[in-house]
Amino acid sequence: MSQSDADRVYIFDTTLRDGEQSPGASMTLEEKLRIAEVLEAMHVDVIEAGFAIASNGDFECVQAIAKQIQNSSICSLARAALGDIDRAAEALKGAANGRIHTFIATSPLHMEYKLQMQPDEVIEAIHKSVSHARNLIPNVEWSAEDATRTEIDFLCKAVETAIRAGATTINLPDTVGYATPDEYAEMFRSVIARVPDADKAIFSTHCHNDLGLAVANSLAGIAGGARQVECTINGIGERAGNAAMEEIVMAIKTRGDVLPYHTGIETKEIMRASRLVSTVTGFSVQNNKSIVGANAFAHESGIHQDGMLKNAETYEIMTPESVGVTKTTLVMGKHSGRHAFADKLKELGYQLGDNAFHDCFRRFKELGDRKKNIYDEDIIALVDDEVATA
Ligand code: KIV
Ligand code: ZN
Repeated sequence: MSQSDADRVYIFDTTLRDGEQSPGASMTLEEKLRIAEVLEAMHVDVIEAGFAIASNGDFECVQAIAKQIQNSSICSLARAALGDIDRAAEALKGAANGRIHTFIATSPLHMEYKLQMQPDEVIEAIHKSVSHARNLIPNVEWSAEDATRTEIDFLCKAVETAIRAGATTINLPDTVGYATPDEYAEMFRSVIARVPDADKAIFSTHCHNDLGLAVANSLAGIAGGARQVECTINGIGERAGNAAMEEIVMAIKTRGDVLPYHTGIETKEIMRASRLVSTVTGFSVQNNKSIVGANAFAHESGIHQDGMLKNAETYEIMTPESVGVTKTTLVMGKHSGRHAFADKLKELGYQLGDNAFHDCFRRFKELGDRKKNIYDEDIIALVDDEVATA
């Protein structure tokens, strides 16, 4: 493996599966296809298109996406049940590169209360399900649901079983968003060091955001040896959501000095994907959301606007163009300073003398105290009035 291959992080997008599991986010086949097309244009490595056994609708979505999308691998989720796996394989028949993703919980809590299975029975189920999937398709991912609350010796045994049975990707999810970054990194280090033939599989992160740590944990997982990240556009997903793809990708791109990895993502498509997912699901993106929020490249304070007008790097660590945003916005409001106001007047086509400028700037500040948002029309009205009464 060359150095650059070793540092490549594969992006597995689960907007259409885990993202769709957010209450209220269900999508039609047509909407899922549109999103899958944008994900393909972003060069996402793996698109989890759905859970084929869950409903006929889900089956049809996986099938349609598998037929349509040629450049990303298409994946269907399946429990550790032969019927689930067969249904996933059936849905993936037309795929250029299909993947079956089968999972079972490994934590004591899930095994005892949810599955009502003994640990040995779970190991047996892993062996059976992964072997069965591998007989149907060469690309098999196995997940240890609730891995972060699983006892480490048992987790290693489960992972070893899955790799022996032919799993090519091993996913260790933080299903309930419980881990901290140090713990999550350590879990990967430990499993990769202890499991024989760990190098036969790619290890994967899958983080939920219950404590707001999903992105930090995903990056820690990479530091611990994972080379696939499971994530969603805008971070949508069960409960508090999944790790946001745009944040992980841009963190890696922006901080290559301390995160020496790379993804294949075409970052200029990020904003388009974010808007589409928001429109389709009806989930608005909060204004201050990293990368894709309306304010992510907007500046209001006078000091910041002045800095931005002199050199954008003063207050922007990535360019808006790099994520598909047309340009930085200097929001006009009570915090704006003379420099930004003068720039705005120039943009609106005004050239004022010193006295008129001084008066207009004073009236603009007064307006800012009364009005939250100052639009171009407000400034035009103010300047026209000043010119008319001068
Ligand atoms: O959060 C989780 O554990 C999952 C698995 C099904 C991969 O979504
Ligand atoms: Zn999940």
